[in-house]
Amino acid sequence: MATVFMLLFLTTFLVQASSTPSVEPRTFSFPTFDPSSCSNGSLICMGSATAGNGFLSLTPEPTNNSVSSGSALDQVGRVLFPVPMAAWPASIFTTFTLRISPFPNSSVSGDGMAFIIAQDNSSSPPSSSGSYLGIMDSSTKGGLIKQLAVEFDTFKNEWDPDANHIGIDTISVMNPVVAKSLNSAGIDLKSRRNIKVKIEYHGWTKMLEISMAYSGDNLVSILNQSIDMSNTVPSTVFVGFTAATGRVPESHQVLDWTFSTIPLLYPDSHDSKLEKFIEKRRERAKQKVEIETRSRTAANVPKMFTQKMLAKATCNFSKENLLGTGGFGSVYKGSFKDDPPTIVAVKKISATSKQGEKEYFAEICTIGRLRHKNIVQLLGWCHEGEHLLLVYEYMPNGSLDRYIGKCYLDWETRFKILTGLASALLYLHEDSGNRVVHRDIKPNNVMLDEEFNAHLGDFGLARLLQNDAAMTTMLAGTPGYLAPEVGFIGKSTPESDVYSFGMVVIEVVCGRRSKGIMDENSLVDYVWNAYGSKELINCVDQMLEGEFDGEQVKRTLMVGLACLHPDSTQRPKIRKVVQIFLNPDEPLMDFPETRPGAVYISVSSGSTTTNVESKSAPRWPSLDSSIY
Ligand SMILES: *[C@@H]1O[C@H](CO)[C@@H](O)[C@H](O)[C@H]1NC(C)=O
Ligand SMILES: *[C@@H]1O[C@H](CO)[C@@H](O)[C@H](O)[C@H]1NC(C)=O
Ligand SMILES: *[C@@H]1O[C@H](CO)[C@@H](O)[C@H](O)[C@H]1NC(C)=O
Ligand SMILES: *[C@@H]1O[C@H](CO)[C@@H](O)[C@H](O)[C@H]1NC(C)=O
Ligand SMILES: *[C@@H]1O[C@H](CO)[C@@H](O)[C@H](O)[C@H]1NC(C)=O
Ligand SMILES: *[C@@H]1O[C@H](CO)[C@@H](O)[C@H](O)[C@H]1NC(C)=O
Ligand SMILES: *[C@@H]1O[C@H](CO)[C@@H](O)[C@H](O)[C@H]1NC(C)=O
Repeated sequence: MATVFMLLFLTTFLVQASSTPSVEPRTFSFPTFDPSSCSNGSLICMGSATAGNGFLSLTPEPTNNSVSSGSALDQVGRVLFPVPMAAWPASIFTTFTLRISPFPNSSVSGDGMAFIIAQDNSSSPPSSSGSYLGIMDSSTKGGLIKQLAVEFDTFKNEWDPDANHIGIDTISVMNPVVAKSLNSAGIDLKSRRNIKVKIEYHGWTKMLEISMAYSGDNLVSILNQSIDMSNTVPSTVFVGFTAATGRVPESHQVLDWTFSTIPLLYPDSHDSKLEKFIEKRRERAKQKVEIETRSRTAANVPKMFTQKMLAKATCNFSKENLLGTGGFGSVYKGSFKDDPPTIVAVKKISATSKQGEKEYFAEICTIGRLRHKNIVQLLGWCHEGEHLLLVYEYMPNGSLDRYIGKCYLDWETRFKILTGLASALLYLHEDSGNRVVHRDIKPNNVMLDEEFNAHLGDFGLARLLQNDAAMTTMLAGTPGYLAPEVGFIGKSTPESDVYSFGMVVIEVVCGRRSKGIMDENSLVDYVWNAYGSKELINCVDQMLEGEFDGEQVKRTLMVGLACLHPDSTQRPKIRKVVQIFLNPDEPLMDFPETRPGAVYISVSSGSTTTNVESKSAPRWPSLDSSIY
């Protein structure tokens, strides 16, 4: 299943109404429908529309003698989400599953259904049955109503290509903006099968893209159509479905539905939009909402800033505002004038790649939708000229590398940081709905907030900048944290992230940095030797002066060593690590007596295992270690 598609299932909550629907991003999701969907205000169900048995029925369900029964003919049903949504300037993503069934023994059937972006919450016009699909009225033929419909048409009228097509209607169903038969895509609307649909409207390329497939198959892009939403519908709209029958019956069902709208800030948009955005952030800061709650409920997606706004916020990217320089570029502290000021971190990346905004946007949305209390939240972005600018939450206590071996951090804080980092990885690897491999776990990428909670940064950038020359170092990872097999298979995996995590664990506990290939071995050897001589506790950072929970320290070091196993298949899963950290009674993983001496590289075919001496074999191509 396509990545973007999975993404939409991340947020499965209902957003409550608020006073400024045109500014806040919104997401809602109906994994299924039951009778209360239509009766308790979750949806507005009009005309013949009902809900039950897990689906919405827009027109009446089949009965065995329906052909003769008039009750299924000339029906119109419409279902709308009751809260208005932003239509522009915005990007819109929606997915749903539909099922269209001709009645038994009925040789013809019709007429079809539509996803509708409607100007208001009223019902379908009075004479909109049959080929009007409940979208518009036979007398006005539309035009007076500002709306956009994506139709799934199962009846061939004289103006239609066939009885199995999709189309986009704005002012007239007889003169659709575009119509396209589904025959070449191998989809039969009347097959009684569940059909997945994804409709995306990309706000600034003003493209509407429709993809479809039978449930369980990979979505196929069916149609791209340029549409200017601002000339078509009001900026705030109601979204939902309509369907109609005419002289022949047919049932039209919707089995699930997710929807998101992401308001955009255009480069030329008035500053009041930014002010509203800042206002929102300030309110949120004031409310001091539990970070946990925020990460679960906020539906924010990265905002688009102008270069001008960000130059202003960072004093023209001045030296005074420079927070640091890393593999990706420089990071500046930014401040939006406000009371109190909103502080952000702006990462400036030389983006010479030929990637367009559309490609960036797709990745940025992916990164932006990842939310967890232990990852650094992406707030916004800007791509003008040569630079890609990414706006992140500001982390007042900098990155973890500033502390290891240099500054005192008590044991509880160190343990909290490691637990947070493990939770972030678990989220990225398993719980985010999108399997995200970080590829470059190291203390420089672990940011600390005012309470020294760990926030993992820079995830997703590898993919975002994958075509960029500047990425070479990143794709290779950082010496000292790179799992041995990565050099051979040339690919990062969740297991190689676990390896890098293990290195961070022993660095944090021992208060020593691993400075590259040689030192990495010596630090790991040092801890293994201590383990061998049953003096693991001697490895602990002298700065702690013995103030720590001995049992917890030992378990933590053993987790670190287990993660550093040269054989990727022997490393613990990050879920197990989190369980061990959170629960003192959780049994440890199986553990070798002495340091495993060989590197086993499992070749991807799975059958071949190559045995390589860990210390003699050259493990890395020569790398620019200055990035570290
Ligand atoms: C309506 O019922 C559904 C399913 O029982 C429930 O999930 C939803 O929260 C309810 N909505 C409202 C507005 O009460
Ligand atoms: C239709 O007929 C079949 C077989 O006679 C029966 O099992 C089924 O329940 C009937 N369906 C309806 C909706 O009446
Ligand atoms: C429907 O068609 C089947 C066979 O095609 C037939 O056996 C059945 O009697 C028909 N039912 C009705 C209600 O016409
Ligand atoms: C339709 O929207 C109006 C305001 O725009 C609101 O007063 C009315 O209650 C809504 N109707 C339904 C059924 O939600
Ligand atoms: C629509 O555009 C997307 C992105 O550019 C592309 O991947 C897809 O193949 C296009 N679909 C069609 C039907 O041309
Ligand atoms: C930033 O640069 C612009 C134009 O180069 C200049 O007008 C402005 O005064 C500068 N602002 C600051 C804060 O230095
Ligand atoms: C951590 O951040 C807090 C809040 O900004 C600050 O008071 C404290 O001095 C910082 N600690 C260190 C060691 O930088």
